[in-house]
Amino acid sequence: METKQAAVKNRRRRRKKRKVPLYLLLLTYGIVILCLVVKHSRPEEAAVPTQTGVSAAPTGVDYDESVYTQISMTQAQRAQGDLALVNASHPFDAAAVTDLQTVYSGKTDNYNVKDVELQVQPHVLSHLNDWLDAFSENTGLRDVNVVAGYRTREEQQALYDNAVATKGAEHARNYLAVPGCSEHHTALAVDFDLYDAAIGTSSDFDGKGQYQWLLQHAWEYGFIQRYAPDKSELTGIAYESWHFRYVGVPHARQMTQLGLCLEEYTDYLRGFPFGGEHLFVSCGDKTYEVYFCAGDTVYVPLHGSYTVSGNNDDGYLVTVG
Ligand code: DAL
Ligand code: ZN
Repeated sequence: METKQAAVKNRRRRRKKRKVPLYLLLLTYGIVILCLVVKHSRPEEAAVPTQTGVSAAPTGVDYDESVYTQISMTQAQRAQGDLALVNASHPFDAAAVTDLQTVYSGKTDNYNVKDVELQVQPHVLSHLNDWLDAFSENTGLRDVNVVAGYRTREEQQALYDNAVATKGAEHARNYLAVPGCSEHHTALAVDFDLYDAAIGTSSDFDGKGQYQWLLQHAWEYGFIQRYAPDKSELTGIAYESWHFRYVGVPHARQMTQLGLCLEEYTDYLRGFPFGGEHLFVSCGDKTYEVYFCAGDTVYVPLHGSYTVSGNNDDGYLVTVG
């Protein structure tokens, strides 16, 4: 027989037992509500395609995994490569360039170099040799003198200060990039003048007469005349007939054909995103495919040759071919 006290205890125990399913019920109810809210707030997940071999990259770009793979770049790499835009609003760290070669040690006999220490990137020297050799073969001239290549920030500062002191601030602004913003920091640019060996003097390279050949054929060797007379508003620099920049053959061709300076071309290439229509550039019997990848995830082909260059702004250009 239960005592009165024991009966009360048992009733309490039974009541406690009945509460357990109620907690469970509330918990289950809560989980169901949470799932519904999460599903409702992420509708884009439903749009991910499920076809075999097609993946959705984190940025939302669909790509065929049997053709492309993705690589992660660092923000610093956006400044590396032949298509890096360098101007007053796109600075470039000269100290980051480590792969340099003296022009004197690798040049051919068909042109001159101002001093034995003048440097450019090795692949630029190779294309420069081909360009100036072909010029010499076609014209018989060997008097082009390479007077500028890679410059440190300090060297640019000294040139800038000297120009201000000797020619005035306006001249310096028009013809010299602000230190830290010169294409010469990249070691992808060269300046020419003409050297008269008979009398040992130099004169300006104006690109006229027989020297027009160099302008007409520059793109075939991957070079562009960077500061054209009608682009000063965009480049921030006055016409410089002597300054050439290496960008690579298909890009030099496209820029020359469309009459675009590098500021315009950088923008134009954004119109060919990886996930959209790509650009195809034919150079002789070779066709290059070009596309833009925004941010620091770059999609590259699994097979075949390609190059990646940052635009020194918001992403990368992949050139296939
Ligand atoms: N003369 C060019 C603009 C430079 O200083 O980089
Ligand atoms: Zn220059």
